[in-house]
Amino acid sequence: MTGIVLNNGVSMPALGLGVFQSPPEETAAAVEAALRTGYRHIDTAAMYFNERQVGEGLRRSGVDRADVFLETKVWVSDYGYEETLHAFDKAARKLGVDQIDLLILHQPATDRFEKTIAAYQGLEKLLADGKVRAIGVSNFMRHHLDELLSRTEIVPAVNQIELHPYFAQPDVQKADAEHGILTQAWSPIGGITFYPGWGEDRRNVLEAPVIGEIAAGLGKTPAQVMLRWHLQQGRSAIPKSTNPGRIAENFAVFDFELTEAQLASIDALDTGVRNGPDPDVPRAERFNTVIPEE
Ligand code: A2P
Repeated sequence: MTGIVLNNGVSMPALGLGVFQSPPEETAAAVEAALRTGYRHIDTAAMYFNERQVGEGLRRSGVDRADVFLETKVWVSDYGYEETLHAFDKAARKLGVDQIDLLILHQPATDRFEKTIAAYQGLEKLLADGKVRAIGVSNFMRHHLDELLSRTEIVPAVNQIELHPYFAQPDVQKADAEHGILTQAWSPIGGITFYPGWGEDRRNVLEAPVIGEIAAGLGKTPAQVMLRWHLQQGRSAIPKSTNPGRIAENFAVFDFELTEAQLASIDALDTGVRNGPDPDVPRAERFNTVIPEE
């Protein structure tokens, strides 16, 4: 499995299991299946309301806690310095762990950017105290990063953003690279291009002919080709699945390689059109959703 060394020296498996929209009742089984398949990195979030089930899946799998890289996210309603210290306590308790490997801010909150900065300073304190092994952000664009970096001490280890062949955000990838921040792809196989309820005029990237042709030529699936594209370009990716067959399929990506020409033909699919929420548009009602203590 490909490992990536973060900018603070901590190693993280590049490929992880995502659990966005995994119903709580299916999450423990998905995490257990992934760990039995060989995954050693799980990405969740307070706002997914399934951290407890991630912890349960980890324990059920029998895999050593120390061998698994756990990543989770602080939700906006917990932004602020003290609030973020407390958000760690909530997440650690739900996950059933003492230390979290990577704790990141779920997104910039442009209607309360001061609190976003204070939340990041809370992450810095958690890092200094050894409660987390690395800290980072999600859905930050270049201007959010610039402001954060000018006002805080520690460069984020990771920026997790919407990134699949139809929306690759080369500008954000470049900003991350300039600062030594690892770009991590959410919806790496483009789930956001076909999830119900996210807009009608989207095209499903799993059905992109260019990707289908590459996959057919290699005897692989489109999802595997996209994951290989991420890994070969140095990114982390966290494909979501609750289906054991697809969980295994998404991990069977270490026995083939894409050529430079194939990588470039996938790069050329970028439409520049976002499918998920615009990080600059505050969503007050959603932002204020309370993360329960238990
Ligand atoms: P399921 O959980 O039923 O497998 P992303 O992580 O890019 O957002 O993609 C997640 C979506 O893609 C989910 O709807 C998931 O459904 C589906 N999915 C996951 N792996 C595969 C795969 N290998 N082939 C097709 N669809 C997949």
